[in-house]
Amino acid sequence: MKAFLIYPATLFSLSCFAFPGNHGDISEDTVAEYAALAAKIARQSEVKRDSSKRAFDADAQRISTTGAHAYIAPGSNDVRGPCPGLNALANHGYISRTGVDSVLSITAASNEVFGMGLDLAAFLSVYSGVMAGDITSFSIGGKANSGSLLGGLTSSLGLLGEGQGLSASHNRFECDASPTRGDLYSTGDPVSLNLEQFEQLAAMPQGPNGYDLTVMSKFRGASFNNSIATNGHFFTGPFTHLAVNAAAHAFTYRLFGNWSAEHPGEGYLDLETLKSFEGVTGEPGNFQWEHGRERIPENWYRRPIGNEYSLVSLNLDAVHAITTEPYIIAIGGNTGEPNTFTGVDVVDLTGGVFNGQTLLEGNNLACFAFQVVSIASPDILRGGLLGNLVQTAVQKLTDALNPIIATFNCPQLTDYDTSLFEAFPGAGSGI
Ligand code: HEM
Ligand SMILES: *[C@@H]1O[C@H](CO)[C@@H](O)[C@H](O)[C@H]1NC(C)=O
Ligand SMILES: *[C@@H]1O[C@H](CO)[C@@H](O)[C@H](O)[C@H]1NC(C)=O
Repeated sequence: MKAFLIYPATLFSLSCFAFPGNHGDISEDTVAEYAALAAKIARQSEVKRDSSKRAFDADAQRISTTGAHAYIAPGSNDVRGPCPGLNALANHGYISRTGVDSVLSITAASNEVFGMGLDLAAFLSVYSGVMAGDITSFSIGGKANSGSLLGGLTSSLGLLGEGQGLSASHNRFECDASPTRGDLYSTGDPVSLNLEQFEQLAAMPQGPNGYDLTVMSKFRGASFNNSIATNGHFFTGPFTHLAVNAAAHAFTYRLFGNWSAEHPGEGYLDLETLKSFEGVTGEPGNFQWEHGRERIPENWYRRPIGNEYSLVSLNLDAVHAITTEPYIIAIGGNTGEPNTFTGVDVVDLTGGVFNGQTLLEGNNLACFAFQVVSIASPDILRGGLLGNLVQTAVQKLTDALNPIIATFNCPQLTDYDTSLFEAFPGAGSGI
Protein backbone atom coordinates (compact mmCIF):
# COMPACT_ATOMS: atom_id res chain seq x y z
CA MET A 1 0.00 0.00 0.00
CA LYS A 2 1.36 3.33 -1.02
CA ALA A 3 0.11 6.04 1.29
CA PHE A 4 0.74 9.76 1.12
CA LEU A 5 0.17 12.66 3.39
CA ILE A 6 -1.90 15.15 1.48
CA TYR A 7 -2.24 18.89 1.86
CA PRO A 8 -5.65 19.30 0.30
CA ALA A 9 -5.74 23.08 0.00
CA THR A 10 -2.45 23.22 -1.87
CA LEU A 11 -2.04 22.55 -5.54
CA PHE A 12 1.28 21.13 -6.66
CA SER A 13 3.94 20.83 -4.00
CA LEU A 14 6.20 23.48 -5.42
CA SER A 15 8.19 23.66 -2.21
CA CYS A 16 9.57 20.21 -2.90
CA PHE A 17 11.70 21.68 -5.63
CA ALA A 18 12.48 24.99 -3.98
CA PHE A 19 16.15 25.38 -4.57
CA PRO A 20 18.08 28.49 -5.46
CA GLY A 21 19.90 28.25 -8.72
CA ASN A 22 20.91 30.30 -11.67
CA HIS A 23 19.73 27.91 -14.35
CA GLY A 24 17.71 29.85 -16.92
CA ASP A 25 15.83 31.94 -14.44
CA ILE A 26 13.16 34.41 -15.57
CA SER A 27 13.18 38.18 -15.09
CA GLU A 28 11.66 40.26 -12.30
CA ASP A 29 9.40 41.81 -14.94
CA THR A 30 7.98 38.41 -15.80
CA VAL A 31 7.38 37.72 -12.12
CA ALA A 32 5.44 41.00 -11.97
CA GLU A 33 3.26 39.81 -14.88
CA TYR A 34 2.50 36.61 -12.98
CA ALA A 35 1.57 38.67 -9.92
CA ALA A 36 -0.78 40.79 -12.04
CA LEU A 37 -2.46 37.69 -13.46
CA ALA A 38 -2.81 36.25 -9.94
CA ALA A 39 -4.60 39.42 -8.85
CA LYS A 40 -6.89 39.17 -11.88
CA ILE A 41 -7.75 35.55 -11.02
CA ALA A 42 -8.74 36.63 -7.53
CA ARG A 43 -10.89 39.47 -8.89
CA GLN A 44 -12.64 37.28 -11.46
CA SER A 45 -13.52 34.69 -8.82
CA GLU A 46 -15.36 37.40 -6.92
CA VAL A 47 -17.48 38.63 -9.83
CA LYS A 48 -21.10 37.64 -9.33
CA ARG A 49 -22.41 35.76 -12.31
CA ASP A 50 -25.65 37.70 -12.48
CA SER A 51 -27.80 37.90 -15.57
CA SER A 52 -26.86 41.52 -16.36
CA LYS A 53 -23.32 40.32 -16.91
CA ARG A 54 -24.61 37.97 -19.58
CA ALA A 55 -26.07 40.62 -21.82
CA PHE A 56 -24.88 40.22 -25.39
CA ASP A 57 -22.11 42.64 -26.31
CA ALA A 58 -21.17 42.16 -29.95
CA ASP A 59 -17.96 44.19 -29.82
CA ALA A 60 -16.65 42.48 -26.70
CA GLN A 61 -17.62 38.98 -27.79
CA ARG A 62 -16.76 38.96 -31.51
CA ILE A 63 -13.31 37.42 -31.88
CA SER A 64 -11.01 38.93 -34.47
CA THR A 65 -9.72 36.68 -37.24
CA THR A 66 -7.97 39.43 -39.19
CA GLY A 67 -4.71 41.37 -39.07
CA ALA A 68 -2.40 39.98 -36.40
CA HIS A 69 -5.06 37.32 -35.76
CA ALA A 70 -5.49 36.11 -39.31
CA TYR A 71 -5.45 32.34 -39.72
CA ILE A 72 -2.07 31.04 -40.89
CA ALA A 73 -1.41 27.31 -41.09
CA PRO A 74 1.62 26.24 -39.04
CA GLY A 75 5.02 26.14 -40.71
CA SER A 76 7.31 23.14 -40.63
CA ASN A 77 8.97 24.22 -37.38
CA ASP A 78 5.70 24.96 -35.60
CA VAL A 79 4.03 22.34 -33.41
CA ARG A 80 0.37 21.55 -32.85
CA GLY A 81 -1.15 18.90 -30.61
CA PRO A 82 -4.20 17.11 -29.18
CA CYS A 83 -6.08 20.25 -28.05
CA PRO A 84 -8.10 21.89 -30.84
CA GLY A 85 -8.63 25.00 -28.68
CA LEU A 86 -4.91 25.64 -28.23
CA ASN A 87 -4.19 24.75 -31.87
CA ALA A 88 -6.73 27.37 -32.98
CA LEU A 89 -5.19 29.95 -30.63
CA ALA A 90 -1.78 29.31 -32.22
CA ASN A 91 -3.09 29.31 -35.81
CA HIS A 92 -4.53 32.79 -35.15
CA GLY A 93 -1.55 34.19 -33.24
CA TYR A 94 -3.39 34.51 -29.92
CA ILE A 95 -0.52 32.47 -28.53
CA SER A 96 2.85 32.01 -30.21
CA ARG A 97 2.43 30.57 -33.70
CA THR A 98 5.36 28.27 -32.89
CA GLY A 99 3.09 26.29 -30.55
CA VAL A 100 5.37 26.86 -27.56
CA ASP A 101 4.42 29.61 -25.17
CA SER A 102 4.33 30.61 -21.53
CA VAL A 103 1.83 29.54 -18.89
CA LEU A 104 1.04 33.22 -18.63
CA SER A 105 0.03 33.84 -22.23
CA ILE A 106 -1.76 30.49 -22.68
CA THR A 107 -3.85 31.28 -19.59
CA ALA A 108 -4.63 34.80 -20.80
CA ALA A 109 -5.51 33.77 -24.37
CA SER A 110 -7.81 30.92 -23.27
CA ASN A 111 -9.68 33.46 -21.17
CA GLU A 112 -9.74 36.26 -23.73
CA VAL A 113 -10.70 34.24 -26.82
CA PHE A 114 -12.85 31.42 -25.42
CA GLY A 115 -14.13 32.90 -22.14
CA MET A 116 -12.55 30.11 -20.13
CA GLY A 117 -12.39 31.21 -16.47
CA LEU A 118 -8.94 32.38 -15.44
CA ASP A 119 -9.03 29.89 -12.57
CA LEU A 120 -9.55 26.92 -14.89
CA ALA A 121 -7.17 28.26 -17.56
CA ALA A 122 -4.42 28.90 -15.00
CA PHE A 123 -4.88 25.48 -13.48
CA LEU A 124 -4.65 23.68 -16.85
CA SER A 125 -1.67 25.78 -17.90
CA VAL A 126 0.31 25.45 -14.67
CA TYR A 127 -0.40 21.73 -14.68
CA SER A 128 0.95 21.49 -18.23
CA GLY A 129 4.02 23.57 -17.37
CA VAL A 130 4.76 21.17 -14.53
CA MET A 131 3.86 17.88 -16.22
CA ALA A 132 4.77 18.48 -19.85
CA GLY A 133 6.95 21.58 -19.99
CA ASP A 134 9.59 23.49 -18.08
CA ILE A 135 7.31 24.90 -15.38
CA THR A 136 6.66 28.33 -16.89
CA SER A 137 6.23 27.29 -20.51
CA PHE A 138 5.15 24.27 -22.51
CA SER A 139 4.64 22.95 -26.01
CA ILE A 140 1.03 22.44 -27.12
CA GLY A 141 2.34 19.67 -29.38
CA GLY A 142 5.48 17.59 -29.42
CA LYS A 143 8.96 18.43 -28.30
CA ALA A 144 9.57 22.03 -29.30
CA ASN A 145 11.48 22.52 -32.52
CA SER A 146 11.81 26.21 -31.80
CA GLY A 147 13.29 25.80 -28.35
CA SER A 148 11.51 26.50 -25.08
CA LEU A 149 11.23 29.99 -23.68
CA LEU A 150 13.72 29.22 -20.98
CA GLY A 151 16.31 27.96 -23.41
CA GLY A 152 18.21 25.05 -21.96
CA LEU A 153 16.48 25.14 -18.61
CA THR A 154 14.74 21.80 -18.73
CA SER A 155 17.62 19.89 -20.14
CA SER A 156 19.99 21.36 -17.59
CA LEU A 157 17.53 20.46 -14.87
CA GLY A 158 16.81 16.99 -16.07
CA LEU A 159 13.48 17.59 -14.39
CA LEU A 160 11.32 15.29 -16.45
CA GLY A 161 14.00 14.69 -18.94
CA GLU A 162 13.00 17.46 -21.30
CA GLY A 163 9.54 18.96 -21.44
CA GLN A 164 7.91 16.61 -23.91
CA GLY A 165 4.84 18.70 -24.66
CA LEU A 166 1.14 17.89 -24.52
CA SER A 167 1.31 15.37 -27.36
CA ALA A 168 3.42 13.06 -25.22
CA SER A 169 1.49 13.55 -21.98
CA HIS A 170 -0.44 10.28 -22.13
CA ASN A 171 -2.26 9.59 -18.87
CA ARG A 172 -0.84 12.69 -17.27
CA PHE A 173 -3.06 14.91 -19.42
CA GLU A 174 -3.84 13.39 -22.82
CA CYS A 175 -6.12 10.44 -22.16
CA ASP A 176 -8.32 7.71 -23.66
CA ALA A 177 -11.91 7.96 -24.92
CA SER A 178 -11.47 11.55 -26.14
CA PRO A 179 -14.21 13.03 -28.31
CA THR A 180 -12.26 13.21 -31.56
CA ARG A 181 -8.84 11.73 -30.84
CA GLY A 182 -8.14 7.98 -30.91
CA ASP A 183 -6.77 6.01 -27.95
CA LEU A 184 -2.97 5.81 -27.90
CA TYR A 185 -2.82 2.04 -27.50
CA SER A 186 -5.45 1.32 -30.18
CA THR A 187 -4.38 3.76 -32.88
CA GLY A 188 -0.84 4.79 -31.99
CA ASP A 189 -1.93 8.40 -32.54
CA PRO A 190 -3.82 10.21 -29.77
CA VAL A 191 -3.00 13.61 -31.28
CA SER A 192 -4.57 13.72 -34.75
CA LEU A 193 -8.30 13.98 -35.23
CA ASN A 194 -9.77 10.54 -35.93
CA LEU A 195 -12.20 10.87 -38.85
CA GLU A 196 -14.26 7.84 -37.88
CA GLN A 197 -14.92 9.38 -34.45
CA PHE A 198 -15.71 12.74 -36.00
CA GLU A 199 -18.21 11.11 -38.39
CA GLN A 200 -19.91 9.51 -35.39
CA LEU A 201 -20.05 12.79 -33.49
CA ALA A 202 -21.36 14.69 -36.51
CA ALA A 203 -24.07 12.04 -37.01
CA MET A 204 -25.41 12.33 -33.46
CA PRO A 205 -28.97 13.71 -33.30
CA GLN A 206 -28.59 17.34 -32.26
CA GLY A 207 -30.04 18.85 -29.10
CA PRO A 208 -31.82 22.18 -28.50
CA ASN A 209 -28.47 23.98 -28.79
CA GLY A 210 -26.92 21.90 -31.56
CA TYR A 211 -23.99 19.75 -30.42
CA ASP A 212 -24.82 20.67 -26.86
CA LEU A 213 -24.18 19.00 -23.53
CA THR A 214 -26.92 16.40 -23.98
CA VAL A 215 -25.22 15.30 -27.22
CA MET A 216 -21.71 15.40 -25.78
CA SER A 217 -22.69 13.35 -22.70
CA LYS A 218 -24.33 10.65 -24.79
CA PHE A 219 -21.33 10.66 -27.14
CA ARG A 220 -19.02 10.35 -24.14
CA GLY A 221 -20.92 7.27 -23.01
CA ALA A 222 -20.53 5.73 -26.45
CA SER A 223 -16.77 6.52 -26.56
CA PHE A 224 -16.31 5.08 -23.07
CA ASN A 225 -18.05 1.87 -24.15
CA ASN A 226 -16.02 1.79 -27.35
CA SER A 227 -12.71 2.08 -25.48
CA ILE A 228 -13.73 -0.78 -23.19
CA ALA A 229 -14.52 -2.90 -26.26
CA THR A 230 -11.39 -2.05 -28.28
CA ASN A 231 -8.49 -0.91 -26.06
CA GLY A 232 -6.89 -3.49 -23.74
CA HIS A 233 -4.99 -0.64 -22.07
CA PHE A 234 -8.01 1.57 -21.46
CA PHE A 235 -7.59 3.29 -18.10
CA THR A 236 -9.91 5.72 -16.32
CA GLY A 237 -8.03 7.63 -13.63
CA PRO A 238 -9.52 10.08 -11.12
CA PHE A 239 -7.92 13.06 -12.83
CA THR A 240 -7.61 11.92 -16.46
CA HIS A 241 -11.11 10.47 -16.63
CA LEU A 242 -13.25 12.32 -14.09
CA ALA A 243 -11.71 15.72 -14.88
CA VAL A 244 -9.86 15.78 -18.23
CA ASN A 245 -12.19 13.50 -20.16
CA ALA A 246 -15.19 15.34 -18.74
CA ALA A 247 -13.57 18.64 -19.73
CA ALA A 248 -12.74 17.53 -23.27
CA HIS A 249 -16.43 16.76 -23.88
CA ALA A 250 -17.83 19.80 -22.07
CA PHE A 251 -15.37 22.25 -23.70
CA THR A 252 -16.49 21.19 -27.16
CA TYR A 253 -19.93 22.67 -26.56
CA ARG A 254 -19.31 25.21 -23.80
CA LEU A 255 -16.34 26.93 -25.45
CA PHE A 256 -16.82 26.36 -29.21
CA GLY A 257 -20.51 27.37 -29.14
CA ASN A 258 -21.52 30.63 -30.82
CA TRP A 259 -22.88 32.95 -28.12
CA SER A 260 -24.75 35.35 -30.39
CA ALA A 261 -27.71 37.59 -29.55
CA GLU A 262 -30.05 34.73 -30.61
CA HIS A 263 -28.61 32.42 -27.93
CA PRO A 264 -27.39 34.78 -25.23
CA GLY A 265 -27.58 32.53 -22.18
CA GLU A 266 -26.43 29.29 -23.75
CA GLY A 267 -24.48 29.36 -26.95
CA TYR A 268 -25.29 27.27 -30.03
CA LEU A 269 -22.86 24.86 -31.67
CA ASP A 270 -23.67 23.89 -35.24
CA LEU A 271 -21.71 21.53 -37.48
CA GLU A 272 -19.99 24.28 -39.49
CA THR A 273 -18.58 25.92 -36.37
CA LEU A 274 -17.52 22.57 -34.92
CA LYS A 275 -15.79 21.63 -38.19
CA SER A 276 -13.96 24.94 -38.30
CA PHE A 277 -12.59 24.68 -34.76
CA GLU A 278 -11.61 21.06 -35.34
CA GLY A 279 -9.90 21.77 -38.68
CA VAL A 280 -12.32 19.56 -40.60
CA THR A 281 -13.61 20.21 -44.15
CA GLY A 282 -16.00 18.30 -46.42
CA GLU A 283 -19.41 16.85 -45.75
CA PRO A 284 -20.74 13.94 -43.66
CA GLY A 285 -19.52 10.65 -45.10
CA ASN A 286 -16.62 12.45 -46.73
CA PHE A 287 -14.97 14.60 -44.04
CA GLN A 288 -11.31 15.52 -44.37
CA TRP A 289 -8.84 16.58 -41.74
CA GLU A 290 -5.37 17.98 -42.07
CA HIS A 291 -2.84 18.67 -39.34
CA GLY A 292 -2.88 22.23 -37.99
CA ARG A 293 -6.00 23.58 -39.75
CA GLU A 294 -8.08 24.50 -36.66
CA ARG A 295 -9.76 27.83 -37.39
CA ILE A 296 -11.82 30.36 -35.49
CA PRO A 297 -14.82 30.94 -37.80
CA GLU A 298 -15.65 34.43 -39.06
CA ASN A 299 -18.35 36.19 -37.06
CA TRP A 300 -17.99 33.96 -34.08
CA TYR A 301 -19.01 35.25 -30.64
CA ARG A 302 -17.37 33.94 -27.46
CA ARG A 303 -19.13 33.54 -24.11
CA PRO A 304 -20.28 36.83 -22.55
CA ILE A 305 -17.75 38.72 -20.45
CA GLY A 306 -18.61 37.91 -16.83
CA ASN A 307 -19.97 34.44 -17.67
CA GLU A 308 -16.66 32.64 -17.90
CA TYR A 309 -16.46 28.86 -17.81
CA SER A 310 -14.83 28.29 -14.42
CA LEU A 311 -13.63 25.36 -12.32
CA VAL A 312 -17.08 25.30 -10.69
CA SER A 313 -18.79 25.22 -14.12
CA LEU A 314 -16.67 22.24 -15.10
CA ASN A 315 -17.51 20.40 -11.89
CA LEU A 316 -21.22 20.94 -12.54
CA ASP A 317 -20.95 19.64 -16.10
CA ALA A 318 -18.89 16.64 -14.97
CA VAL A 319 -21.57 15.72 -12.43
CA HIS A 320 -24.30 16.28 -15.01
CA ALA A 321 -22.63 13.88 -17.46
CA ILE A 322 -22.51 11.17 -14.77
CA THR A 323 -26.14 11.65 -13.83
CA THR A 324 -27.19 11.10 -17.45
CA GLU A 325 -24.70 8.26 -18.19
CA PRO A 326 -24.09 6.77 -14.71
CA TYR A 327 -21.76 3.93 -15.80
CA ILE A 328 -19.03 6.41 -16.85
CA ILE A 329 -18.15 7.15 -13.22
CA ALA A 330 -16.06 3.95 -13.07
CA ILE A 331 -12.41 4.38 -12.04
CA GLY A 332 -10.37 1.42 -13.28
CA GLY A 333 -9.42 -0.11 -16.57
CA ASN A 334 -9.12 -3.05 -18.89
CA THR A 335 -6.62 -5.65 -17.68
CA GLY A 336 -4.79 -6.11 -21.00
CA GLU A 337 -7.53 -7.30 -23.33
CA PRO A 338 -10.67 -5.59 -24.63
CA ASN A 339 -13.81 -6.12 -22.57
CA THR A 340 -11.97 -6.83 -19.32
CA PHE A 341 -12.92 -3.58 -17.62
CA THR A 342 -12.60 -3.85 -13.86
CA GLY A 343 -13.69 -1.03 -11.60
CA VAL A 344 -11.78 -0.08 -8.48
CA ASP A 345 -13.78 0.58 -5.33
CA VAL A 346 -13.47 4.31 -4.67
CA VAL A 347 -13.89 3.61 -0.95
CA ASP A 348 -10.77 1.41 -0.97
CA LEU A 349 -8.90 3.83 -3.22
CA THR A 350 -9.54 6.82 -0.96
CA GLY A 351 -9.46 5.23 2.48
CA GLY A 352 -13.22 5.70 2.78
CA VAL A 353 -13.21 9.47 2.20
CA PHE A 354 -15.20 9.27 -1.04
CA ASN A 355 -17.73 6.83 -2.43
CA GLY A 356 -19.77 6.74 -5.64
CA GLN A 357 -22.48 8.85 -4.05
CA THR A 358 -20.41 11.50 -2.25
CA LEU A 359 -18.32 12.06 -5.38
CA LEU A 360 -21.39 13.64 -6.94
CA GLU A 361 -21.98 16.03 -4.02
CA GLY A 362 -20.69 19.59 -3.75
CA ASN A 363 -17.46 20.02 -5.68
CA ASN A 364 -16.18 16.59 -4.70
CA LEU A 365 -15.37 15.44 -8.21
CA ALA A 366 -13.04 18.41 -8.55
CA CYS A 367 -11.72 17.82 -5.02
CA PHE A 368 -10.80 14.25 -5.81
CA ALA A 369 -9.13 15.20 -9.10
CA PHE A 370 -7.12 18.02 -7.46
CA GLN A 371 -6.02 15.87 -4.58
CA VAL A 372 -4.78 13.17 -6.91
CA VAL A 373 -2.85 15.82 -8.86
CA SER A 374 -1.29 17.17 -5.71
CA ILE A 375 -0.26 13.67 -4.66
CA ALA A 376 1.19 12.85 -8.03
CA SER A 377 3.19 16.01 -8.60
CA PRO A 378 5.91 15.49 -6.00
CA ASP A 379 6.09 11.86 -7.00
CA ILE A 380 6.82 12.83 -10.57
CA LEU A 381 8.92 15.90 -9.86
CA ARG A 382 11.97 14.42 -8.34
CA GLY A 383 13.40 17.73 -7.27
CA GLY A 384 15.81 19.85 -9.24
CA LEU A 385 17.56 23.12 -9.52
CA LEU A 386 14.83 25.58 -10.33
CA GLY A 387 15.52 29.27 -10.64
CA ASN A 388 14.17 31.18 -7.65
CA LEU A 389 12.07 33.47 -9.80
CA VAL A 390 10.52 30.63 -11.77
CA GLN A 391 9.25 29.22 -8.55
CA THR A 392 8.13 32.58 -7.21
CA ALA A 393 6.20 33.27 -10.41
CA VAL A 394 4.31 30.00 -10.56
CA GLN A 395 3.72 30.08 -6.84
CA LYS A 396 1.84 33.35 -7.38
CA LEU A 397 -0.65 31.53 -9.58
CA THR A 398 -1.09 28.54 -7.30
CA ASP A 399 -1.49 30.93 -4.37
CA ALA A 400 -4.32 32.61 -6.29
CA LEU A 401 -5.98 29.25 -6.95
CA ASN A 402 -5.69 27.88 -3.42
CA PRO A 403 -8.36 30.16 -1.86
CA ILE A 404 -10.74 29.34 -4.74
CA ILE A 405 -10.26 25.64 -4.10
CA ALA A 406 -10.61 26.23 -0.36
CA THR A 407 -14.19 27.39 -1.00
CA PHE A 408 -14.93 23.90 -2.37
CA ASN A 409 -14.76 22.54 1.22
CA CYS A 410 -13.01 19.40 0.09
CA PRO A 411 -13.12 16.40 2.43
CA GLN A 412 -9.57 15.63 3.45
CA LEU A 413 -8.13 12.72 1.53
CA THR A 414 -5.30 11.12 3.46
CA ASP A 415 -4.70 7.82 1.66
CA TYR A 416 -4.54 7.06 -2.02
CA ASP A 417 -3.84 3.41 -2.69
CA THR A 418 -2.34 3.21 -6.18
CA SER A 419 -1.53 -0.47 -5.67
CA LEU A 420 -5.14 -1.03 -6.72
CA PHE A 421 -4.08 0.00 -10.25
CA GLU A 422 -1.46 -2.72 -10.64
CA ALA A 423 -3.84 -4.90 -12.64
CA PHE A 424 -4.14 -2.23 -15.35
CA PRO A 425 -1.31 -2.14 -17.89
CA GLY A 426 -2.48 1.27 -19.12
CA ALA A 427 -2.54 2.95 -15.70
CA GLY A 428 0.68 4.93 -16.09
CA SER A 429 1.21 7.08 -13.02
CA GLY A 430 -2.33 6.37 -11.83
CA ILE A 431 -3.78 9.85 -12.09
C1 HEM B 1 -5.72 26.43 -20.83
C2 HEM B 1 -4.91 25.57 -21.36
C3 HEM B 1 -5.32 24.28 -22.02
C4 HEM B 1 -4.60 23.13 -21.98
C5 HEM B 1 -3.29 22.92 -21.26
C6 HEM B 1 -5.33 22.15 -22.76
C7 HEM B 1 -4.90 20.85 -22.98
C8 HEM B 1 -5.65 19.86 -23.59
C9 HEM B 1 -5.25 18.48 -23.74
C10 HEM B 1 -3.93 17.90 -23.25
C11 HEM B 1 -6.25 17.83 -24.36
C12 HEM B 1 -6.30 16.34 -24.71
C13 HEM B 1 -7.19 15.64 -23.72
C14 HEM B 1 -7.61 14.28 -24.21
O1 HEM B 1 -6.78 13.43 -24.48
O2 HEM B 1 -8.82 14.07 -24.32
C15 HEM B 1 -7.28 18.78 -24.62
C16 HEM B 1 -8.48 18.48 -25.23
C17 HEM B 1 -9.40 19.42 -25.59
N1 HEM B 1 -9.34 20.77 -25.36
FE1 HEM B 1 -7.86 21.77 -24.42
N2 HEM B 1 -6.45 22.71 -23.26
C18 HEM B 1 -6.49 24.02 -22.84
C19 HEM B 1 -7.45 24.95 -23.18
C20 HEM B 1 -8.49 24.72 -24.03
C21 HEM B 1 -9.38 25.74 -24.53
C22 HEM B 1 -9.28 27.24 -24.23
C23 HEM B 1 -10.29 25.12 -25.31
C24 HEM B 1 -11.36 25.84 -26.05
C25 HEM B 1 -12.35 25.28 -26.64
C26 HEM B 1 -10.00 23.70 -25.29
C27 HEM B 1 -10.73 22.70 -25.92
C28 HEM B 1 -10.43 21.36 -25.91
C29 HEM B 1 -11.27 20.33 -26.53
C30 HEM B 1 -12.59 20.55 -27.24
C31 HEM B 1 -10.63 19.10 -26.32
C32 HEM B 1 -11.09 17.72 -26.77
C33 HEM B 1 -10.40 17.31 -28.04
C34 HEM B 1 -10.99 16.03 -28.60
O3 HEM B 1 -11.99 16.11 -29.32
O4 HEM B 1 -10.46 14.95 -28.33
N3 HEM B 1 -8.90 23.50 -24.51
N4 HEM B 1 -6.88 20.02 -24.16
C1 LIG C 1 -22.76 1.83 -22.73
O1 LIG C 1 -22.87 0.60 -22.05
C2 LIG C 1 -23.77 0.63 -20.96
C3 LIG C 1 -23.64 -0.62 -20.12
O2 LIG C 1 -23.11 -1.67 -20.83
C4 LIG C 1 -25.17 0.84 -21.50
O3 LIG C 1 -26.09 0.86 -20.45
C5 LIG C 1 -25.18 2.17 -22.21
O4 LIG C 1 -26.45 2.40 -22.80
C6 LIG C 1 -24.12 2.24 -23.29
N1 LIG C 1 -24.06 3.61 -23.73
C7 LIG C 1 -24.23 3.99 -24.99
C8 LIG C 1 -24.22 5.46 -25.28
O5 LIG C 1 -24.38 3.21 -25.90
C1 LIG D 1 -23.13 33.30 -34.82
O1 LIG D 1 -24.45 33.72 -34.74
C2 LIG D 1 -24.73 34.92 -35.44
C3 LIG D 1 -26.16 35.30 -35.20
O2 LIG D 1 -27.03 34.27 -35.55
C4 LIG D 1 -24.46 34.75 -36.92
O3 LIG D 1 -24.64 35.96 -37.60
C5 LIG D 1 -23.02 34.30 -37.09
O4 LIG D 1 -22.75 34.02 -38.45
C6 LIG D 1 -22.76 33.04 -36.27
N1 LIG D 1 -21.36 32.68 -36.35
C7 LIG D 1 -20.97 31.49 -36.75
C8 LIG D 1 -19.49 31.25 -36.77
O5 LIG D 1 -21.74 30.62 -37.07
